[in-house]
Amino acid sequence: MTIADLTVTGGRGKDGRAEPVSEITLRMGDIVSIVGPTGCGKTTLINDIELFANRNTPSGRRVLINGESAEESCSSDPARNPIALISQHTNFLSDLPVEDFLSIHATVRAHEGGEAIRETLGFANKLTGEPIIRTSAMTELSGGQTRALLIADAVVIGNSPIVLLDEIENAGIHRTRALELLKEYRKIFVFVTHDPRIALLSDYRVVMRNGAMQEVILTGKEEGRVAAELRKMDDLILDFRNRIRLGERLTENVLEEQMKACGYLT
Ligand SMILES: Nc1ncnc2c1ncn2[C@@H]1O[C@H](COP(=O)(O)OP(=O)(O)O)[C@@H](O)[C@H]1O
Ligand SMILES: [Mg+2]
Repeated sequence: MTIADLTVTGGRGKDGRAEPVSEITLRMGDIVSIVGPTGCGKTTLINDIELFANRNTPSGRRVLINGESAEESCSSDPARNPIALISQHTNFLSDLPVEDFLSIHATVRAHEGGEAIRETLGFANKLTGEPIIRTSAMTELSGGQTRALLIADAVVIGNSPIVLLDEIENAGIHRTRALELLKEYRKIFVFVTHDPRIALLSDYRVVMRNGAMQEVILTGKEEGRVAAELRKMDDLILDFRNRIRLGERLTENVLEEQMKACGYLT
C-alpha cells in the first residue's frame, strides 16, 4: 500500500469537550512537531496514531490512512505496519549483539542482510555522538545509542513510511543533523518535542493543551529567521558544554572569541 497521507480526526480533551482542531492531515514528506507542557497529551496523541485509533481510545480520535479507516487495513500484519514508534522509555530485554538484532529484523523484512545492517549502523552513528559497536549487546547501549539505533532501524530496515518519535532530545542525539538526514527520506516524521530547534525545523507544529489539539502553527519565514539565530546560540551553549566535559576552564577570552565566531560581537 502506498501511503499518501494520514488524517487524525479530533475527539475530546481531558475535560470531555471537543478538540479545537477537528481534523489534521499529515502528508507524505511532512515533518511535524507536537508541542505542549508535560501532561498535556502529546504521548497520548502519538499513541492514538500508532494504535490506529478508531474512537476506541480515551480521546475518541480516529486515524485514517489515505482517507480510510486505518484499523482494518494496517493493523493485521505486523510486518506491514506502516508506523514505527520510538518511545520515550525503551529498554531492551534482549542481550543479543547489535548485529544479530539487526540481522533478525532484516530477515523478517526480507533485506539483503549485510548491506542493510551496514547502512543502519552507519546511519545510527551519524545520529549519536557515541559510536555503536556492532558486537555490543543491545542491553549495553546508552539511551542515545538506543534511540539512534531504533530510528535508523525504523528508517532503513523497517522502511516505515510513518515514524513517530517521543522526546528524543534528552537522549544525546545530534538534533539538527538528525533532522537534516531524516529529511532526505520521504516519510511522515512526527516529533514530540520541547526543543525549539526541532519544532522550528518542522513544517508545522500541533499545539496541545489539556489533552486536546489546540492549534496548528505553520513555520513561516519569520520563524525560520528566528530559528537560524537560535541555532547559533544553541551551538554556542553546546560548545561550552563540551569544553566543560573535556575538563577545560572557561575564560572571558574564549567566550568573546566564540561570540565573535557566531556573529554576536564584532
Ligand atoms: N484526550 C484525552 N482524554 C483523556 N485523557 C487524556 C487525554 N489526553 C491525555 N490524557 C491523559 O493525560 C495524561 C497525560 O498525557 P500524556 O499523553 O502522557 O502527556 P504528555 O506526553 O504531554 O506528557 C495521561 O494519563 C493520559 O492518559
Ligand atoms: Mg509524553
